[in-house]
Parts: sequence; structure tokens; C-alpha cells
Amino acid sequence: MAVKKKLKIKKKNFTIFVLLICIIVYLIVTSFNFVTDKLTKNHQSSNNEVVKAEKEKNTEEKKKTLTDEEKKLKELNNIDKKIDYFNKKYIDRYLKYKENNPDMDLEKIIIYVNMGLDNNYYTNTIKTPYLNKEYILVNKYNYLTDDYIPDNLESISTKYALNGMKLVKVAKEAFENMAKDALNNKMSIIAMSSYRSYSYQVNLYNKYVKADGKEAADTYSGRPGHSEHQTGLAVDVYNGKENYTNFEKTKEFNWMQDNAYKYGFILRFPKNKTNETGYMYESWHYRYVGVEIAKYIYEKKISFEEYYVRFIENKK
Ligand code: DAL
Ligand code: ZN
Repeated sequence: MAVKKKLKIKKKNFTIFVLLICIIVYLIVTSFNFVTDKLTKNHQSSNNEVVKAEKEKNTEEKKKTLTDEEKKLKELNNIDKKIDYFNKKYIDRYLKYKENNPDMDLEKIIIYVNMGLDNNYYTNTIKTPYLNKEYILVNKYNYLTDDYIPDNLESISTKYALNGMKLVKVAKEAFENMAKDALNNKMSIIAMSSYRSYSYQVNLYNKYVKADGKEAADTYSGRPGHSEHQTGLAVDVYNGKENYTNFEKTKEFNWMQDNAYKYGFILRFPKNKTNETGYMYESWHYRYVGVEIAKYIYEKKISFEEYYVRFIENKK
């Protein structure tokens, strides 16, 4: 009996002992978890703080650049809100041009910089976009590559042109209609130079440079790739008698002045736009741009460069 009791007591103690061990182990494990959990949380929150601080720094920096831009826009009377051809990429060029031309109208400054006039002719040139479109721009900043040949070139009827003259179909048809109507009014409008290939222009330009020097040649002849004769949309005319350089003095010129736009042609290098076009006045050189554009340019008396900057370039 006594042995049995002793055994029972031992068993009870052992159970208590095991229980105690379990409690101790449980306490150790939970406190360990608590500590590691806390440590991870601390680490996470300090990480979060770093991210937050970085975000704040970025917003501050963004705010600062915005303010710089805002300041510049303010100097330009916030004209960006009024004209859709304002180009934020050119903001420093606008400011510089304004500084160099303090009396110039602000809108004109934007237009001139967009034209590229803040850089010398034949600098900052770009490959012109809108190939084969009647509103393609080719000038001293916008060029065609040596392999460019327009689509749909067709010969102009020799009734209205010297032999071998070609224009793009739509321009050729418009030209023939115009020359036919002029003839019905007893006026003779004859195409004497129209589409010219790149290599043709190479020879022509070199010939002019040899005769007059580069500086003079640049005032009246496009360098290869920069002549819009390569577009197949430009045509030089004369009246079949007078030298083309005297075209201005003919009645045909007067008729063209009043009527060319109705057929989609503009006088491309007008007298008072030489700085914008980059060329001296040419009373004989006409460019097909389509009736709508020609009418606008005729009515507003602006250069094609200005039209392009206002209505074409930004529509990219
Ligand atoms: N005569 C014009 C400017 C040309 O060569 O394209
Ligand atoms: Zn010409």
C-alpha cells in the first residue's frame, strides 16, 4: 500500500514537473516570437519612413522644377495658355530670343523660334516629315534626302510648259487648269522649271556657287535636299516672252497675284518675307499647297513657314 502511495505521489510530481516545463517552454517561445515580431515591425516602419522621406523629397524636387518652369512661363506672359503651337521643349530658346529681340511681339518670337530662325540657316536641320503631302515643308531647316522622289510625277502638257516638265499629279492638274484659264484670258503662263531631282539640284547649285559665290547663291538657290523643287510641287513660270526674272512686270504676274490661290498655288517667296523663307523675292516661283491652305495664306498674307508652324507642325 505504502509503495503504491509513493508511486502515485511520484507520478503526480512528475506530471507537475512536465507541466511546469511545458509552461516554461511556452513562455520562452512566445516571448521570443514577441521580440522578433517587434524587431521586424521596427525594421519595417523604419523602412517605411525612409520610403516616405524619399517620396517627400521627390515631390519637393518636382515642385521646385515646376516652379522654375512656371517662372519662365510667366516671363513669357503665360502665352502657352493662349497658343497651341507653343512648344515647352523650346522654352529656353524663346527666352533667349526674347532677350535678343526685346521689342519683338511675343507671338512672333514663338513663331520665329518654331521656324528655327534663332539658329542660322542650314543649322539644326531636320529631315522633313509629311512626304508626299501637299503641305510638306522644305526650306533651309527642313530637308529631303538624296533618294527622295515624290510619288505620281506626271509631265505637264507642252501647251503650258517647256519640254520635260513634271509635277506631282494633283499639282500638275491644278497647274494645267490655271494655265488654261489664263490662256482663255489671253495670258500665257508657261512652266520653265518644275520637279528637279536631288542630283539635278547638286549641279544647279554648284553652277550658281561657281558663278556668284556661295553667299549670293544661297540667297536664291536651295542647296541640294533643301530645294522644294524636289517635292514636285513647285514650279517656276514665265510668260513665254520675257525673261522669267522680269515676270513681276508682266500682266500674267498680276493675274497670278489675284488668281493663283484659287488653284491651290502660292507665291512662295514674297517680297516682305525673305527672313522667314530664307530666300530673296522670286515673282516666278509658285508652290502647290492645295486650295484651302493657299486661300488662307493669300487672305492673311503670311508665309508658308508661318502657316506650317501655326497649323501643321503641331498636328504631328
Ligand atoms: N530658287 C529656289 C529657292 C530653289 O532653288 O528652290
Ligand atoms: Zn523655283
